[in-house]
Amino acid sequence: MPDKTRRIVVGITGASGALYALHTIRALLANGIQVHLVVSDYGAYVLETETGLSLKGKAFDDGLKERFGEAAVNGNIVRYSNKDLAAEISSGSFETDGMVIVPCSMKTLAGVAQGFAGSLIERAADVTLKEGRKLVLVPRETPLNRIHLKNMLAASEAGAHILPAMPAFYQKPNTIADLTDFIAGRILALFGIEAELFEPWRK
Ligand SMILES: Cc1cc2nc3c(=O)[nH]c(=O)nc-3n(C[C@H](O)[C@H](O)[C@H](O)COP(=O)(O)O)c2cc1C
Repeated sequence: MPDKTRRIVVGITGASGALYALHTIRALLANGIQVHLVVSDYGAYVLETETGLSLKGKAFDDGLKERFGEAAVNGNIVRYSNKDLAAEISSGSFETDGMVIVPCSMKTLAGVAQGFAGSLIERAADVTLKEGRKLVLVPRETPLNRIHLKNMLAASEAGAHILPAMPAFYQKPNTIADLTDFIAGRILALFGIEAELFEPWRK
């Protein structure tokens, strides 16, 4: 990468838990990472339902600033349409430090596990795996059926990291942000970023 900017692709899909995505994006930006963001149609729907944030125009950036403060969003978000399979992140020649899909629906999990690559999120995930880069999937569904479990195993066998949206409670969370930051912190840790978003367990 010529300018050595660290880039991570973030996919948001239509599983519950859009807040996990917002806290992950905030933490990546705070650590100087350029976020390449793709949101599926149902990702946008659930995002708006759960957080009130719209993706229309500048509303997303403005909403992040309102929520996390002006400094939290320094313009380092590059946005793509999930339909744009010709986008730069659709090609392995565009270097990134990897990708996280947070939250990851069972539908997108299935697409990734089977190499379907029919949307930009699925294609970018496919490219991430074929280039041997880090792919983190944050599935959220309960209970899980056998198809979900098999797809998680298939994605894991293909090289993806499965990081379920399962916050721990040993850090005695007081707020929802404590829970979402726990997951954001675990995601960043997989990328080798020490964000200190949660207290590691100590006896
Ligand atoms: C309010 C709402 C919540 C949903 N929650 C989940 C969920 O937690 N997990 C999941 O796998 N799908 C969930 N879905 C279903 C997905 O949005 C749906 O399967 C969709 O096709 C996913 O497409 P995408 O992966 O392209 O975003 C939810 C849908 C809605 C409308």
